[in-house]
Amino acid sequence: MAARKSSVLNLAVIGGDGTGPEVVAQGLKVLKAVAKKDGFTYKLTDFNVSGDRYLEAGGDPSKPSIPVITDEEIAQLRTFDAIYLGAVGHPKIAPGILEKGLLLRTRFELDQYINLRPVRLYPGVPTPLAGRGPKDIDFVVIRENTEGLYTGMGGIQYKGTPQEVSTQINCTTRFGAERAIRYAFEFAKRRHKLTGGKKGKRVTLVHKTNVLTFAGDTWFRAFQEVGREYPSIEKDYNHVDACCMWFVKNPDYYDMVVTDNIFGDIITDLAAVIQGGLGVAAGGNINPAGVSMYEPMGGSAPKYTGQNVINPMAAIGAVAMLLRETGTQKDNKTWAKAGTRVEEAIIRVTPQMKSQAAGRMGYSTTEVGDLVVKAL
Ligand code: IPM
Ligand code: MN
Repeated sequence: MAARKSSVLNLAVIGGDGTGPEVVAQGLKVLKAVAKKDGFTYKLTDFNVSGDRYLEAGGDPSKPSIPVITDEEIAQLRTFDAIYLGAVGHPKIAPGILEKGLLLRTRFELDQYINLRPVRLYPGVPTPLAGRGPKDIDFVVIRENTEGLYTGMGGIQYKGTPQEVSTQINCTTRFGAERAIRYAFEFAKRRHKLTGGKKGKRVTLVHKTNVLTFAGDTWFRAFQEVGREYPSIEKDYNHVDACCMWFVKNPDYYDMVVTDNIFGDIITDLAAVIQGGLGVAAGGNINPAGVSMYEPMGGSAPKYTGQNVINPMAAIGAVAMLLRETGTQKDNKTWAKAGTRVEEAIIRVTPQMKSQAAGRMGYSTTEVGDLVVKAL
């Protein structure tokens, strides 16, 4: 007999540092409620991976000394339908140790080559852009997530001497650029269908081809060539500096953006502010044929930890994305539909909140979670 597709959603959960576990708890509360509503079952497996564990295990807070996540844990993560991540970052641990040891390692080892960042201003959420509302800010950034300046290629020579030399290599491959670009066009097609033809009409490549003439050339040609496979989708190109201006000046122009790793990192923070801040921005680290990881964009916010004041909306948004993308990836319509239901509930709750900033929402962390549950 052919193997039957399992209908149990098998999730790995990494609460992580600071407020990570608090916001993840709200996301899981919403998951529980939507699973009941839409009639599916899921299984959660907690991974105790955090800065605290690193320190308790004797990790050096000033330089990487022991694994933040072990080989066994990475191997285990490969067996899940998806990963739900809270936050990484610990005030006592030097920057880079946890980020590289957990986030980047997982992205690379599980080949999560897409960073998916929907940028959507929800109703009632203030944007710093004067005169703009939800209908002006609704685009998607596809960031390449495994190459570019993030591979760690390069090094320092003659360190600590006046001759010190450092190189940080922008590792760009045709393969990497092409698969990100193809994902963007395919996503545009899906978006076109989901929005009844309103969106998914244009893909904008963002790079810096006037200066990065080698990497930019590879990206540009890949974009032209892959783009020919999608004749009905408009193709456009922006230099990254100009794109920053236009995100602010003409956000309504954007529909789908595809870009390399570092440019994507930078422009998606700008985009997060435009959509109302880190309290609402969620992202996915996607391997379309493997195990993907979903997370709120906000950090571990140590100063708000344990006070029940942090905004869980981004983490709840990450659950919506997890359900929609995993459902799409695994052809499970129930999960995908549940994802849409969660996003619709978020849209009903944001207008009730005073602000999206921690401590100023008019509700506590757990109350916001309850409001979303009620709105499902
Ligand atoms: C992000 C983060 C990470 C990145 C850091 C924490 C390594 O800023 O997901 O955008 O730069 O990719
Ligand atoms: Mn970033």
